[in-house]
Amino acid sequence: MKEVFLTGITCTGEPHIGNYVGAIKPGIDVSYDSSKQSFFFVADLHALIKCQSPEVVYASSLSITCAWLALGLNKDNAVFYKQSDVPEISELCWILNCVAAKGLMNRAHAYKAAIEKNNLNNNDPDYAVSMGLYSYPVLMAADILMFRANQVPVGKDQIQHVEMARDIAARFNHIYGELLTLPEAYIDAKTPVLNGLDGRKMSKSYNNTIPIFLEEKQLRKAINKIKTNLQEPGEPKDPDVSTVFQIWQAFAAKEQILEMREKFKNGIGWGDAKKELFELINNRLKEPREKYKELLSNPSEIEEFLQEGSNKARAISIPLLHEIKQAIGIKDPRNFELKLKGYV
Ligand code: TRP
Repeated sequence: MKEVFLTGITCTGEPHIGNYVGAIKPGIDVSYDSSKQSFFFVADLHALIKCQSPEVVYASSLSITCAWLALGLNKDNAVFYKQSDVPEISELCWILNCVAAKGLMNRAHAYKAAIEKNNLNNNDPDYAVSMGLYSYPVLMAADILMFRANQVPVGKDQIQHVEMARDIAARFNHIYGELLTLPEAYIDAKTPVLNGLDGRKMSKSYNNTIPIFLEEKQLRKAINKIKTNLQEPGEPKDPDVSTVFQIWQAFAAKEQILEMREKFKNGIGWGDAKKELFELINNRLKEPREKYKELLSNPSEIEEFLQEGSNKARAISIPLLHEIKQAIGIKDPRNFELKLKGYV
């Protein structure tokens, strides 16, 4: 049996180079590994938790899809879909809600952070906390368990959620029999978490990102905005505390990294270092940028691609949900094989 890799990307904005380095590039690499089956999806149901602008959610779902395609996803060995196009996930989510312990959700980082913030501001602890935010890890468990994923590549902040999915699956299996596969978080030590323009983690929530497909001019401008210290040209600089160097490392080949390390030691000026960084990133993204623009200008092609992806996904989710329903006592008299025919 092939190992199953699965990961989701929440669509609340334009994809940025932190997403590229942390999720898209490693994901695309997996899509070329024929010993693995991979599933990638746009988590638009998760997006609703953070973003209630319909335009942003929709536009972002398209731009994220185009980004994966433009950057070279191997469509033959990866299933790519929109979460909301696979309704079995929402159905499984409710079923899992009924086995997930409330106490487990109380410990989720995102929920705890919201409460801490409210306490700090002397608000009611649950002020502005939606049920979506509270039970976010259950929806994520449904995403993962629906496709029997073994390996879930995620950033450090998401490890807890994958562990919760594992807990929920184990509890389900204990009650109803061994139907669900226990997932593991897959952390690649080589995958960096990029810093943003202000030196904090690059994230849409901090508004410090460099979008992947900025036009050349804007890309140059954004790179020039990366925060540095006040050291002058000629002064030796410490590469290991520099965001410029960190981003360089994520895009450069081994020898280039060593060369830049040397240049930092020899006091390269920030202006020159940023110029080199721009050249490096721009060379990498030039071609995909054109492809991306072409794809975005043709949404019907994207919709078709997503439709194909959800058909492939549902050929798996429909029969598994059927089995799960049988196991929990919600027997489905409809012939799922017939239903399945429409999807393969
Ligand atoms: N919550 C993840 C994030 O914000 C996105 C996500 C949703 C996900 N469902 C998932 C990641 C399932 C891995 C597996 O980054």
